[in-house]
Amino acid sequence: MNNELTFWKDKKILVTGGAGYIGSHTVKELTKRGFETVVYDNLEKGHREAVVDGEFVLGDLADLDTLRETFTKHRIDSVIHFAADSEVGESVKNPAKYFQNNVANGLNLLRVMLENGVKKIVFSSTAAVYGEPERIPILESDKTLPTNPYGESKLIFENILKYYELAYGLRYISLRYFNAAGADPDGLIGEDHNPETHLIPLVLQTALGLKDEVEIFGTDYDTPDGTCIRDYIHVTDLAEAHILALEALAKGGESKIYNLGNGNGYSVKEVIEVAKKVVRREIKTVLSERRQGDPSILVASSEKIMRELGWKPKYEKLETIIETAWNWYKSNRAGWNMEILYKRGDL
Ligand code: UFG
Repeated sequence: MNNELTFWKDKKILVTGGAGYIGSHTVKELTKRGFETVVYDNLEKGHREAVVDGEFVLGDLADLDTLRETFTKHRIDSVIHFAADSEVGESVKNPAKYFQNNVANGLNLLRVMLENGVKKIVFSSTAAVYGEPERIPILESDKTLPTNPYGESKLIFENILKYYELAYGLRYISLRYFNAAGADPDGLIGEDHNPETHLIPLVLQTALGLKDEVEIFGTDYDTPDGTCIRDYIHVTDLAEAHILALEALAKGGESKIYNLGNGNGYSVKEVIEVAKKVVRREIKTVLSERRQGDPSILVASSEKIMRELGWKPKYEKLETIIETAWNWYKSNRAGWNMEILYKRGDL
């Protein structure tokens, strides 16, 4: 952004949920590119250690006072909004939590943005807005019929943004991520959920001996090997897309919705096979029932963001993606929650 330095001088980007997995990687990339950030996070899921750059505010989106104070104290130019609950299974059991945090608390953010004349937002959306897809690869214009409260809460917020643009002139870019994976190639930060439910971290935890086996959820899907197919995208490639979106909005670009994936599908069994090659260890698996709410195949077409914003994934190969996650696990003791590893002397 060298020739745009004047524009961004003294302006800050508010990153809600910036201590989480995708948020923290985006903050790191933003800083690398010279942007100033203020992370706003309640640390319910995020990790203070993950915010390696910029300012940090401990705050919840339910807390209007702290939110207002943050906007008053800093000259916020735009917002990247990650803060949300994001577990499909949990959302089915506890939809109230998802509509409260992802929709109602999100409205607080929009309210304070408008009070302060901040009218640009990059929103963290999801492939879960599509539900069971009508075709593969999925295009942004395909039908959105979420099959769980998580996807529904994100779709509602996308629609709220549409109406806020019409009424209040707020401009947005919603990014529908497919399966975020991997870790910062420098090895400083990575994925660390508690409890962990995602496939690649669970596979690597099994490789480290922290878990006895990986459960394969469902072997009777209509796919070549019977297991679910997903599109895994490196978290740093996702981070890069947020920066491009921010810059597009800063240049006066229109509101948009973009998919973000690699366009390559891998089955659960294929992911485990690639992981075995990377870690060069045995990874024990057990066949299990389908997990409720899992569509059989989710693969993105990301042509639109490539064409319009010039985004291009750098870490396309699944092997490379898993390698970065594995390096982080090894050099950072499998995350901030994984003290157990020290005690076991495994690392
Ligand atoms: N899986 C297993 N065993 C496990 C964990 C996962 O077989 O122990 C399978 C799942 O059934 C799925 C695939 O591995 O087929 C990937 O599962 P993840 O939990 O890693 O990711 P999801 O595809 O369920 O979730 C991702 C995002 C969500 C988003 C969803 C859209 O993490 O935020 O895609 O469907 F909502």
